Amino acid sequence: MLVDRTFIHPMVGTMKRVLSGIQPSGQMHLGNYAGAIRQFVEMQDTHEMYVFVASYHAMTSSRDPQAMQKNIRQAVTDYIAFGLDPKKTNIYLQQDVPEVTELAWMLACVCPKHMMDKATSYKDKVGKGIPASIGLYVYPILQAADILSVDADLVPVGQDQVQHCEITRDLAMKFNHYFGPVFKLPEHQLRCSAGVLPGIDGQKMSKSYDNTIDPFASEKKLRKRIMQIKTDSTPVEAAKDPHGCVVFQMFKGIAGEDDPRTINLAQHYREGGFGYGQAKEALFDLILNHFGPARLRRAELMADPAFVDRVLKHGAAAAQEQVRTVVARARKAVGL
Ligand code: TRP
Repeated sequence: MLVDRTFIHPMVGTMKRVLSGIQPSGQMHLGNYAGAIRQFVEMQDTHEMYVFVASYHAMTSSRDPQAMQKNIRQAVTDYIAFGLDPKKTNIYLQQDVPEVTELAWMLACVCPKHMMDKATSYKDKVGKGIPASIGLYVYPILQAADILSVDADLVPVGQDQVQHCEITRDLAMKFNHYFGPVFKLPEHQLRCSAGVLPGIDGQKMSKSYDNTIDPFASEKKLRKRIMQIKTDSTPVEAAKDPHGCVVFQMFKGIAGEDDPRTINLAQHYREGGFGYGQAKEALFDLILNHFGPARLRRAELMADPAFVDRVLKHGAAAAQEQVRTVVARARKAVGL
């Protein structure tokens, strides 16, 4: 496999530019896919995409260099396996574009301290046991630099990241107010709640709840995990409300609400004589089917680390080119 960067998307220039990042925290799961990555994959043909691995953000909670390195690599591999196409999307690592951290400093210098005091993610994270470092405290400034450094138009986010996007706009406006029109003001695009997948215990699927499903697990492990999904004790014969069942919610989240398979499954629930075990088998088949190509691609990528290296090299070069123009603008504006 080779990355052909001679391919230039015919619509570059007219397309809105999208930026997003994900913290490398190990294996990506179904929740990451349904909540974010699927949307990036769908946007690739109609948007100019910058998707990066937020390693410096991950440093706020990591003290393990081996795990860091492994997780960064895994994040990139999973992005591509899930369908991010390096020909269409610039995939890069945060540390490969160090100018972003320079920009974070410049933004920090116009950021009133009370703006960070008001950010809720700091308190949430400290509450969860993440060390209360200055890095964690100014996390939103680095995120603002990520976004502003590529002149992004649009940032697709879940509810938990909306405040960070608002801070980004506020910082951009403050900077522009002091120094002239340096930064483009980005908008956030809130993902619909349909993207939030429940985990096997019915809470939101999240690594921190240990309730995730790994779509790349071996068939045996995958089946075992699916059989662990919590269901109630309604007997097989009884009619059931599909929407009250986690298995159905997952199925719908992956296949889509209007998919004939989802409609069919809902009907089985309502008719009765259909047990949760059968629903779980249906979910197992769906996952194998839906992620068949991704599973194959991931195996190929794991066997071809040089390919991943090339993707990152090209992604970094593209991001650097863009970021350098923005940082040059900012430097000039402040008198450096
Ligand atoms: N804070 C984001 C998260 O935890 C990750 C992130 C870092 C990000 N920089 C970003 C997301 C810029 C969007 C844009 O999910």
